[in-house]
Amino acid sequence: MLEIGAKPKLVVGVEIDALALGVCQSRLPVASCLLGSAFDPDVISRLPAQGWDLVIANPPYVRYQSFSDKADTAHALPSAMQIRTGLLQSLQRLPALDDEDKQIFAHLVSGYSGLSDLAVPSMILCAGLVKQGGRLALVVPESWLSRDYATIVHYFAVSLVRH
Ligand SMILES: C[S@@+](CC[C@H](N)C(=O)[O-])C[C@H]1O[C@@H](n2cnc3c(N)ncnc32)[C@H](O)[C@@H]1O
Repeated sequence: MLEIGAKPKLVVGVEIDALALGVCQSRLPVASCLLGSAFDPDVISRLPAQGWDLVIANPPYVRYQSFSDKADTAHALPSAMQIRTGLLQSLQRLPALDDEDKQIFAHLVSGYSGLSDLAVPSMILCAGLVKQGGRLALVVPESWLSRDYATIVHYFAVSLVRH
């Protein structure tokens, strides 16, 4: 985005791994990079309170159940339960969502499959951060759309395009 001449007023990033965060900061000096879990409501509350023109995510396509005990990061990786609970709390504070949106999002967060990979809650969070008329960009493997738990992904893809 910056390489093709965009001049955003504000660029922020969230990363749980200190090493990756350092790389981000050195490659994007204009960005404010927050260290912590994107599913931690305290981290999300440190973002400027606004809907975003563009939200980009390249989430890990692993089942978080499988790496929650490998806490080799500065911040321990959250469990599936912490992610769902944190997301439910964060949603209530997202300025881009109105009351009806918050209800729908809360329903989706409560209902996504426990077998989902981390990309599913990531997509929901990022969709809640982007403002109406803004853009959401996700790096996804092709196979993602055909996974068993992909119904919610399809729902988002269709409803976001409509809006
Ligand atoms: C596929 S890599 C993408 C790295 C980099 N953002 C990029 O686009 O090249 C996924 C990144 O998500 C980070 N991550 C995993 N769980 C996270 C969480 N709960 N909150 C924030 N970042 C997380 C990992 O540390 C990893 O750097």
